[in-house]
Amino acid sequence: MEISARKGDLVTQPCDVLVVNEFLGVKELGGATGAVNAVLGGKLARYMKEDSFKAKLGATFVLRTNGEIPAKRVMVVGLGKKEDFDLEAVRQAAAASLNATKALGAKSVVSVLHGAGNGGLKPADCAQAIVEGVRLADYAFDTYRSEKKEKKRVNRFDVVTRDGQDVRRALRGIEIGELMASGTLFARDLVNTPAQDMNPEKLVDIARNITKGNASVRVKVYDRAALTRMGAGGLLGVAQGSDYQPYLVHMVYKPRKATKKRVALVGKAVTFDSGGLSLKPADYMMTMKCDMAGCAAVLGAFSVLADVEPACEVHGIFGAVENMPSGKAIRPGDVLMAMNKKTIEVLNTDAEGRLTLADTLTFATKQKPQAIIDLATLTGACMVALGEEITGIMSNNDALAIKIQDASLAAGEKMWRLPLEKNYRKLLKSEVADIQNIGGKWGGALTAGLFLEEFVDKIPWAHLDIAGPVFAEREIDSYTHKGATGHGVRTLLTYLKGL
Ligand code: BES
Ligand code: ZN
Ligand code: ZN
Repeated sequence: MEISARKGDLVTQPCDVLVVNEFLGVKELGGATGAVNAVLGGKLARYMKEDSFKAKLGATFVLRTNGEIPAKRVMVVGLGKKEDFDLEAVRQAAAASLNATKALGAKSVVSVLHGAGNGGLKPADCAQAIVEGVRLADYAFDTYRSEKKEKKRVNRFDVVTRDGQDVRRALRGIEIGELMASGTLFARDLVNTPAQDMNPEKLVDIARNITKGNASVRVKVYDRAALTRMGAGGLLGVAQGSDYQPYLVHMVYKPRKATKKRVALVGKAVTFDSGGLSLKPADYMMTMKCDMAGCAAVLGAFSVLADVEPACEVHGIFGAVENMPSGKAIRPGDVLMAMNKKTIEVLNTDAEGRLTLADTLTFATKQKPQAIIDLATLTGACMVALGEEITGIMSNNDALAIKIQDASLAAGEKMWRLPLEKNYRKLLKSEVADIQNIGGKWGGALTAGLFLEEFVDKIPWAHLDIAGPVFAEREIDSYTHKGATGHGVRTLLTYLKGL
């Protein structure tokens, strides 16, 4: 599908579907929608009223034009209430218009620049949001199907506006939107791919591929022997039960203009989490190919970083392992020593993510960044707290936490801060080692965050527990279908772009 913007008059555009919009509860059609209605002799408004169309966010109404204008159909997409309107509403509306167009079997769309007129938003931001909504809605994971599910494809999606300056702004927004979407879809593919194929070696290959032909990104890979020398007892311990070798991957993006600003992104990369000897029940294991989604978000961001061109050095770090039970696996009660020499009593082998992050966060601190952000499908408890759509942010630094929450809001990824409550640290006290890998019955997301804090050496750090939003077990909204969502990529890119 081609997405573009051009100057023109909506009512003269030949296309299968002409997309206009309406706020919920407005009495009279205004702006571009009003103009189209006028050319159609008021039929649009009349039929919408007759069919009691409610312009709820993402609702669509379609009218055949019978040759009265070059567009074959007019589609009105609801923008919801004006007081709730924002860029996320633009994404949802654009995505809904694409879904409805596909359902009609139509091939070409001409769309208004949702949000720029009555909505009062910046044209570049609106265009970016439209591209994000449309591209993410259009995604399907068909790699493993003999017959492709997606037969109905839209070929063209053109944003048309009368203002030449808006066209130039929209084109810039489209470029950024394409990068945001591309990084997100990259992550979705990695997470959707079954663990039989998305194993630790494969993640290493993917990191290497990103650096190929890309002068601003380097990669270094540490294998089992190197990890042993480095004392990465957490990664080695978790990998012990698997037939796959563990790897620590370190990517570095350097901007063309030298800078002292440095950020480290750390992703959990457990390619499959069976729970190990603390085996998960079958129901909980079904989606555990998603346990490398933190790494996928980091790789997704890195896949477009050279084009997004943030003005800071970015380190991407992940420890790729598989968590399996076997005669070689770590046992409950075993003690591991992490890269920073802290000893950890493993009481539950299913709390493996924090064991791997103990090493990768230690490795991150050694790069001396001004900020560390980790993304991890760390706890079911975070899903109990915040549900399936919201990431938990835990941070030792208020300014960093606020920056990330702002970025997530702009990116349309829901995140909410949870506390690193000092009083809960006692729950991690071990009888035999420096720390144990599980807390008590309650507050599991927080004790996991407190555990990680032991390995960041007071550097400003934010932990994003993405267990809920990375994998949709049901349809979430117009651009988040079932399966991997690519959650995190757009927040990371938005945050980095803002530095
Ligand atoms: N990978 C899981 C967390 C998870 C759960 C991710 C659901 C995505 C969806 C993690 O390794 C885990 O098993 N955590 C345990 C920790 C517990 C043993 C302290 C959990 O949440 O049950
Ligand atoms: Zn686990
Ligand atoms: Zn896990």
